[in-house]
Amino acid sequence: MTAALLSLRGVSVGFGGVKVLDGIDLDVRPGEIRGLIGPNGAGKTTLLNVVCGIHGPSQGDVLLEGRSIVGLKPSRIAALGLGRTFQTSQLFRGMTVLENLMSGLHRRTRAGLIAASLNLASYREEEARAEEEARLALEFIGMADFADRPGTALSFGQQRVIEIARTLIGDPKVVLLDEPAVGLSMNRLAEFDRLLRRIRDEKGVTLILIEHVIRLVMDVCDQVTVLSSGRRIADGPPDQVRNDPDVIEAYLGKELRARHTAS
Ligand SMILES: Nc1ncnc2c1ncn2[C@@H]1O[C@H](COP(=O)(O)OP(=O)(O)O)[C@@H](O)[C@H]1O
Ligand SMILES: [Mg+2]
Repeated sequence: MTAALLSLRGVSVGFGGVKVLDGIDLDVRPGEIRGLIGPNGAGKTTLLNVVCGIHGPSQGDVLLEGRSIVGLKPSRIAALGLGRTFQTSQLFRGMTVLENLMSGLHRRTRAGLIAASLNLASYREEEARAEEEARLALEFIGMADFADRPGTALSFGQQRVIEIARTLIGDPKVVLLDEPAVGLSMNRLAEFDRLLRRIRDEKGVTLILIEHVIRLVMDVCDQVTVLSSGRRIADGPPDQVRNDPDVIEAYLGKELRARHTAS
């Protein structure tokens, strides 16, 4: 068995006495696309926040390549190879698509800021490299022509894909995606499925995907973890999870009924 790239060991998180995550274990192997599903409020986003260092766990450990990353700053964890997108759109107003992508680079160190204010040659070189990487990321997602447009002029779906491109700059090992497919049409979903696979296959990035679009999760994910009320209620290949009575009871039954009522 391959060693896990990212592991959670008994991770608990409490907010004001309420346990939002309760003893979560998780092992994500390199090259895996892992789905993370469950009802609203289950603790999915909190789990991502713990992994990327926004919240510390009250108990348990998070390991990246076997090394604990608990207590490290988010910027340090990002530099170790962890990228993420957020549940709500994070493109900056007043910036072009290209500038938005460049703003995702984790090189804005103190030394970098001083060099920038002095406009040192080293800084200019770094900027040029950053621009090159940003252009390559745009090319990868098939949006090279959008480089100079204002970020917020793009459609919602396009903005979400730009946010994913931003995480790819700097060669991350793991990328965490928080509901990236919200608002995508069925046509777009097939494209999105291909994009996720290409990120894994061509960039070698391991993905963790929080998503309510069950069809996407079941199609693209190798393994699916289900959270409900802060606990892990199932973990396994899509087919196993889809037919798990506890998962149907806690989540899938409701999702499917909601879809029927909506259509
Ligand atoms: N910073 C916070 N402070 C207090 N409660 C929070 C905070 N973040 C999330 N929660 C609560 O934790 C629970 C899980 O939230 P979340 O992780 O966002 O769930 P999900 O992403 O699965 O919908 C919810 O009850 C939410 O209200
Ligand atoms: Mg969430």
